Amino acid sequence: MDTLFTTANDFLSDYYLTLKFVHMVFAAIWAWSTSVAYGNYLVPLFRDWQRAPHDPERIRLRNWAMERFDDGAKLEHIAFPMLLITGPLLMLAGGWTPDSGWFAMKLVLIVLVFLPIEIADFHLAHFGGNKERLREAGDGVAHEKAIHLHWWFLIITTPIVIVSITFTFYLAIVKPF
Ligand code: HEM
Repeated sequence: MDTLFTTANDFLSDYYLTLKFVHMVFAAIWAWSTSVAYGNYLVPLFRDWQRAPHDPERIRLRNWAMERFDDGAKLEHIAFPMLLITGPLLMLAGGWTPDSGWFAMKLVLIVLVFLPIEIADFHLAHFGGNKERLREAGDGVAHEKAIHLHWWFLIITTPIVIVSITFTFYLAIVKPF
C-alpha cells in the first residue's frame, strides 16, 4: 500500500498546482453557481406566491423558476463530484493526512454536511423530485408536493451551507490548525 501511495505521490506531485487550480475552479462553481438563481429568482417569486397562493400567474412563475433552478443545479452537480475526484488526488499528491487539523475538519464537513445535502439535492433536482418530469407526467399532486419539499429543503439547508462552505474555504486556504 505504501508503495502505491509513494508512486501516486511521485507521479501526481508534478501536477500539484494544476490539480489545485482545477480543484479551486470547481470549488468556486460548486459554491456559487446557484446563488443568484436562489437569491434573486426563487426567493422573491416564492415570497410573492405565498402572499397570494391561489393566483394562477404567481403559481406559473413559481413553477417556472423551480424548473429552471432544477436545470441550473446541473453546474453545481458536475462540480461536486469533480471536487470529490480532485480532492483525494491533491491529498495523495501533497501527502496530506488527517493529522493536519484543517484537513481533518474539512473531511468531517464533507462527509457529515456536504455529502448528505448533495445526495438529497441530486434527488430533488434531477431524479424523483424533478419538477419538469412530474409536470409532464401530469401528476399534479406529486408535482405540488415536490415543489414544497424542495422549497423547505432549500430554506433549511441554505444557512447551513453558507456557513460551512465559507468555513471550508477558510480551512483550506488559511489552514488555521
Ligand atoms: C467539497 C468541497 C470542497 C471545497 C469547497 C474545497 C475547497 C478547497 C480550496 C478553496 C482549496 C485551496 C486551498 C489553497 O489554495 O490554499 C482546496 C485545497 C485542497 N483541498 Fe479541497 N475542497 C473540497 C473538497 C475536497 C476533498 C473532498 C478533498 C480530499 C478528500 C480535498 C482536499 C484538498 C487538498 C489536499 C487541498 C490542497 C491544500 C493546499 O495545497 O494548500 N478537498 N480545497
